[in-house]
Amino acid sequence: MKRMILTTALAAMTGLATAQTTVPDPLVAQDGTRIETAAQWREKRRPELLEFFAKNMYGRAPERPKDLLVEVFDRDPHALGDKATRLQMALYPGGKSGPRLDLLVYLPNQVKGPVPAVLGLNFWGNQAIHPDPGIRITESWIEENRQTEGNPPKVQNHRATEASRGLNAKQWPVERILSHGFALATMYREDVAPDHEPYFSTGLQALYPEFQKGDENFGCMGAWAWSLSLALDALEKEPAIDAKKVALFGWSRLGKAALWAGARDERFAAVISNESGAGGAKLFHRGVGEDIERLNRVFPHWFARSFKPYAGKDTELPFDQHLVLSLIAPRPLYVGSAIDDKSADAEGEYASVKAAGPVYKLLGGEPLPAETWPAVDQAVLGKSLAYHVRTGKHDVLDFDWDHYLEFLDQRLK
Ligand code: GCU
Repeated sequence: MKRMILTTALAAMTGLATAQTTVPDPLVAQDGTRIETAAQWREKRRPELLEFFAKNMYGRAPERPKDLLVEVFDRDPHALGDKATRLQMALYPGGKSGPRLDLLVYLPNQVKGPVPAVLGLNFWGNQAIHPDPGIRITESWIEENRQTEGNPPKVQNHRATEASRGLNAKQWPVERILSHGFALATMYREDVAPDHEPYFSTGLQALYPEFQKGDENFGCMGAWAWSLSLALDALEKEPAIDAKKVALFGWSRLGKAALWAGARDERFAAVISNESGAGGAKLFHRGVGEDIERLNRVFPHWFARSFKPYAGKDTELPFDQHLVLSLIAPRPLYVGSAIDDKSADAEGEYASVKAAGPVYKLLGGEPLPAETWPAVDQAVLGKSLAYHVRTGKHDVLDFDWDHYLEFLDQRLK
């Protein structure tokens, strides 16, 4: 296997060492052929990488239903003080008796459609992204932790209460996104696939039991990514949305899913990964931060069983996450890191973006215009690739959205 050497030399003023990592060359096929044209990438390398990742990491996914049942159960043109039209649709990929996925959409009222959109999964239910009393509260299981405490509690017996409205609003600046002329669409991770025990028991995984068998099983990442494509199927039917301009957004585990969704489904116009870390944007080869062993031990339901034997082999893998980023090329991709998010290895996320550069170049895009790891809080917005590492911990902050929206303004309008 041909490898490429990456140097993520830091600005001398940071006083940190130069790091060198060697990763598989994205432009050398498994049989050793050098990929020199866009056609070779499309016909040979892209299919073999998709096959490799399905087989060894994310698992296999069913075909999506051609006749997806979508029920629009809410359309309020006076939402958010007349700023938005709120749409809520129930998606039934297995028909009415199967799982129900609620897709919440806000359309900006100040612009005439069709409008570009940001689509992402959320952590706490659709009602958690905004205090809007019109959002249907999820009936799916919800994680309880410090965020959900309170009087009255926001979650009780793992079900959301009225008090859960807006519990995660800080991470979802809905009005700001709308003010840029973007629609916002979101679904709840637990509607799609259970992120708690008993694993694989509800949602899409229960709908497709045959895809749970064997080593190439349809884990959470596979299901979450698949659900984003399903959401796009539904958005394509909505005339107010410009479905050719839908950008994915995801934070943390949902950022991992957004990257895989963007890699597989070329209908997505752009991808934003916010601190997706291990199994997301970061390179395992650096051996920094969360590793494959931990990822599979703590979250055995996220990736396919076939990924587990790679535990302990992080620095000698025949693949790495820059190849997933490469599958997004030449579409715009923004990777955001946080300096205190140690397990996500901010520098490794940068190195991964750099390593996807040659593929972007081959396909008519541009590599990230930064020769060294950018200083903290210095966002680098290239023509195709963008990156920042900001001050602070694992979270979604205004700083992140400031730059994501700037990038999307430039790339999607
Ligand atoms: C854990 C996990 C990360 C993940 C994060 C999250 O911290 O180790 O890989 O990104 O959870 O999704 O919140």
